Amino acid sequence: MNSSGDASTVSRSDHRSDQDRASAAGAELRWARREDLESVADLDREVFPEMPYPLFVLRQHMDARPQSIFLVIEADETICGYALATVVSNHRKAWLLALAVSEDYRGQSYGDRLLAAVLASCASRGARRVLITVRPNNEAALGLYKKYGFHKTSSEENYYGNREPREIMQAKLQGDPIRARLGGGLSHGFGSKPGGLLSGEAGS
Ligand SMILES: CC(C)(COP(=O)(O)OP(=O)(O)OC[C@H]1O[C@@H](n2cnc3c(N)ncnc32)[C@H](O)[C@@H]1OP(=O)(O)O)[C@@H](O)C(=O)NCCC(=O)NCCS
Repeated sequence: MNSSGDASTVSRSDHRSDQDRASAAGAELRWARREDLESVADLDREVFPEMPYPLFVLRQHMDARPQSIFLVIEADETICGYALATVVSNHRKAWLLALAVSEDYRGQSYGDRLLAAVLASCASRGARRVLITVRPNNEAALGLYKKYGFHKTSSEENYYGNREPREIMQAKLQGDPIRARLGGGLSHGFGSKPGGLLSGEAGS
């Protein structure tokens, strides 16, 4: 993982202040670490039982994709939510690949905080817009995405090849809803990204 490139211009104090804000509200929002991966895979199986990410795919995102943004939220010593996104730098766009909060922890703004942090990190890595796919009947996710200005751009009947329709939604990172929600956080992203396999550093 290219930790030096992805650390961008974020200072350690920016990193601490983001984490302090999350901790003050009773949960820690932070970059995923290697030791979180099994918990994230368990959470993914709980939330997306029909199509969970295999553990090795999560590991590959952490180790081999410098453009991946992989965040977790931890409360009660439990990984209760995670978000994964990837920046397609040459198109200046990013895809949100996963956003999940364990059922017992929903309705406490954890999904909101994960999404805000992911969007800020996408912006700090040069993305100008973010795309997501969502089931058309997923009211909770649709409600959350609309808060941040996502709107439907298209739909696909067989997005995952299983005859399940998906809506594709998009938001401009410089758009008013996101700027209003993130303010200055949009420019500095969510802290420094930990190193990984390719950088020779442990994901700490
Ligand atoms: C979508 C999900 C991540 C939301 O997480 P959460 O922590 O419960 O959400 P929050 O408490 O942060 O709520 C943020 C916003 O989401 C929307 N929302 C959350 N739950 C909702 C519900 N049951 N119905 C409608 N809107 C809802 C609201 O707009 C809410 O904002 P508000 O509190 O100002 O009304 C969570 O429901 C989840 O993991 N669902 C299953 C996985 C999934 O569908 N992921 C998205 C794949 S595209």
